[in-house]
Amino acid sequence: MDLDTALDSRSSARVFKSDPVSRDLVEEILERAARSPSGTNVQPWKVYVAMGPARERLTRELLAYREKNPEDGGKEWPTVSKRVEPYLSRMRTLGKEMYTLLEIPKGDKQANWNQWGRNYKFFDAPVGLIFTIDKDLDRTSWLDIGIFIQSLMLSATARGLDTCAQGAWNQFWTVTKDVLEIPDNEYVVCGMSLGYADKTAPVNTLVAEREPVSSFAFFREE
Ligand SMILES: Cc1cc2nc3c(=O)[nH]c(=O)nc-3n(C[C@H](O)[C@H](O)[C@H](O)COP(=O)(O)O)c2cc1C
Repeated sequence: MDLDTALDSRSSARVFKSDPVSRDLVEEILERAARSPSGTNVQPWKVYVAMGPARERLTRELLAYREKNPEDGGKEWPTVSKRVEPYLSRMRTLGKEMYTLLEIPKGDKQANWNQWGRNYKFFDAPVGLIFTIDKDLDRTSWLDIGIFIQSLMLSATARGLDTCAQGAWNQFWTVTKDVLEIPDNEYVVCGMSLGYADKTAPVNTLVAEREPVSSFAFFREE
């Protein structure tokens, strides 16, 4: 698969088949992703790969915790909580399109709760990835992790696999860190589902729209 095809065909899958993914294949994808550049080559990425019983345990414990406890009070790291335009509208458009395909009516809180909870089952994908970063590293290293994550997703796409990056995992980082034995000096950046998408699922047909180049690129030529 050439790179443009991989870029164009990757999309977030939210229903996976139970087809297994071998540890060898996960390692191969991670090895490719590690070819990503990073500032001064610090390679700040860390990935906890949850498979088999460990993945089941993570899902079970997190969902049980979520039934009785609120989120961890936001993300583990400092963030800006106020959402502003044009980002707010883009987020709402995605939500509207996704929940239409899922046939979840606006205001159906229980159905929304259940659907968001599917994040913590990795949408039934056999492999769950949790990305972390040392708390000592600064924002440039967070950029590196983003690059690494996209490389990983493209490497997976090139091998016929599907992914969904998931910020949902930093809403319950305490349980996640506990179950996966993640050291306290690391932040949970986000998670990812990895496996084979069920192409018949309507939500997997979602094509999230993109703004034209003219809306985000500012050429200065004179
Ligand atoms: C860092 C990051 C976090 C994300 N978190 C979630 C999430 O928690 N749950 C989810 O269903 N999708 C999540 N997504 C997927 C985005 O909604 C998706 O990438 C975006 O709508 C563009 O769609 P596409 O990936 O299909 O091109 C996340 C994506 C990224 C890059």
